[in-house]
Formats: sequence, C-alpha cells, structure tokens
Amino acid sequence: AIERTLSIIKPDAVKKNVIGEIITRFERAGLKVVEGKLVTLSREDAEGFYAEHKERGFFNDLVSFMTSGPVFVQVLEGEEAIAKNRQIMGATNPKEAAAGTLRHDYADSIDANAVHGSDSSTSAAREIAYFFGG
Ligand code: CMP
Repeated sequence: AIERTLSIIKPDAVKKNVIGEIITRFERAGLKVVEGKLVTLSREDAEGFYAEHKERGFFNDLVSFMTSGPVFVQVLEGEEAIAKNRQIMGATNPKEAAAGTLRHDYADSIDANAVHGSDSSTSAAREIAYFFGG
C-alpha cells in the first residue's frame, strides 16, 4: 500500500553536507519527498517528539544532540514507505548497520546516527502531525 512516513536528517548529517545525498537514496528507492523543512528544534520540540523515550538513560543526550544544529524534517511517500525507509536507514546502531545503508555510510555513533524514521504506522501518523499538522 502507499504510505507516508516521517524522516529526519539529523544534525550530524546536516553538518556533513549530505542532505542531498540522503534524499537521493530515498528517491532512487521510489520514495517521494512530499513535505520538507530545515528547522532547529527547541528542547521542548525534541522532548515532545521523543516523549516515548523520556525514562531512558539516553534521553538527555538525545535531546541535546537533536537541538545541537538544524535538522531536515521530511515526509516520504511511496509503496511500503515505513518499512522501506527503515531498510534504507539500517540498524539504529551504525556498528550493526548493513553495508550500503545510510547509517553504515553516514552515522558516527548510536547517538549521532544520521537519520530518524518512523517505526510503525501509528508513529508515522503521530510524527507527521507533530511537524506538519493533521
Ligand atoms: P532514533 O530512531 O531517532 O530514535 C531514538 C534515538 O535515540 C535513536 O535513533 C538513537 O539515535 C538514540 N539512542 C541512543 N542510545 C540508544 C539506545 N540504547 N537505544 C535506542 N536508541 C538510542
């Protein structure tokens, strides 16, 4: 089915000047950018977005990292977009990410891991609404 998913190009990848290279990977896989904006998140923005992780030990580092510079937030649309985006990204920890995935190629650590992608249709709906409205 045609789906929409939320993708974030994180501060580390924006600093590396690879927004275009990352979007090209999505486009070559048949995903289309249907919304997009470069934004600098406030702490409140980042805490709200990652609310499900607020009890985790890495939460403060995650929020600090995500507010450390601009991010490119986008909505990708296409056939099985949620799973396809996750395949293109690779494992959360770049040490475990398969060759040819974005995190293998661009991520430095589990914190500075280049991209975020919605993990389910429920989170995609919430995350798209969070940045782009209902
Ligand atoms: P992301 O997909 O954006 O969702 C939450 C982020 O927390 C994750 O990518 C990682 O960058 C970061 N993170 C740091 N430590 C961990 C961990 N142990 N498990 C999961 N995510 C982590």
